[in-house]
Amino acid sequence: MSFPNPGNQTARLLADIESGSTHGDTHLSEQLNGLPLNELLIRRATLDDSTMLEKIEREAFPGMTPVTQISRDLTRENGIYLVAARQWHPDELELGARFAIATRAEKEADGLVARLKRSVDKYLLDRIHTPTLPADYIAGFIGLWLVLDEAHVVIIGLREIDRRKGIGELLLINGLEHALENGSRVVTLEVRRSNRPAIELYRKYGFQEVGLRRRYYSDNGEDALIMTTPPIHSDDYLEHFNTLRDLHAAKWGEVKRPA
Ligand SMILES: CC(C)(COP(=O)(O)OP(=O)(O)OC[C@H]1O[C@@H](n2cnc3c(N)ncnc32)[C@H](O)[C@@H]1OP(=O)(O)O)[C@@H](O)C(=O)NCCC(=O)NCCS
Repeated sequence: MSFPNPGNQTARLLADIESGSTHGDTHLSEQLNGLPLNELLIRRATLDDSTMLEKIEREAFPGMTPVTQISRDLTRENGIYLVAARQWHPDELELGARFAIATRAEKEADGLVARLKRSVDKYLLDRIHTPTLPADYIAGFIGLWLVLDEAHVVIIGLREIDRRKGIGELLLINGLEHALENGSRVVTLEVRRSNRPAIELYRKYGFQEVGLRRRYYSDNGEDALIMTTPPIHSDDYLEHFNTLRDLHAAKWGEVKRPA
């Protein structure tokens, strides 16, 4: 299937919307259709994605404060942020444009008090990277930090509408591939004790519970499980990983690799 270049059409829509001929809405993401896997692309996140990623983070982790400064994290030298995305469908262009306007309006309304609390570099980044129409529809993302011989999964989250379609697993597979390429020895993470979907996903990929951080989450005082893989370059782990990756591809189809 081919898609039109959103360029001119989108510019017109943005102009129409800003002049009031159509109306913004903060719940537009709920009107989008979700993500058919066969159109999926895994790509590196860019600074232009940061507003969208912060929105997805708020949806994936409701009540979590403070919200991560994704625009700052995306600039970390040792960070790898990958998104699962697809091109806008033609009938979504207007929704996408309205979504961008609403997001920008939200951000501006959120203004003074919130900005005072943010660091200066975040403020500057926001000014430089004013939100515009997102390049594509993003279902979710994963972030890893490579520290010494470990890769740490700092975040993985999807929009609700895109869960249970193999996308979280696909992001984890791609994150693990980056960890392998970067020569990390193990991959580690923290997860809420009650977060069964995530724990099941991590167990499937060989993560084991190796410790506990008591009352780690400030919103409800919940404990975090520390989970770590065995050495990921070991023959046993690679065999396990490759089998799961093949099964995922057989079940959900092959997906384009990150550029
Ligand atoms: C955790 C999360 C990323 C999983 O992504 P997902 O795309 O829904 O999961 P997938 O469809 O790829 O499922 C992969 C595996 O995860 C596990 N899993 C996912 N959802 C599950 C659920 N609701 N119950 C039990 N296991 C689940 C299963 O092991 C599944 O493998 P299977 O299909 O062979 O059963 C997603 O639920 C999410 O974004 N949650 C909110 C944010 C979050 O909690 N992030 C983790 C923070 S540590």
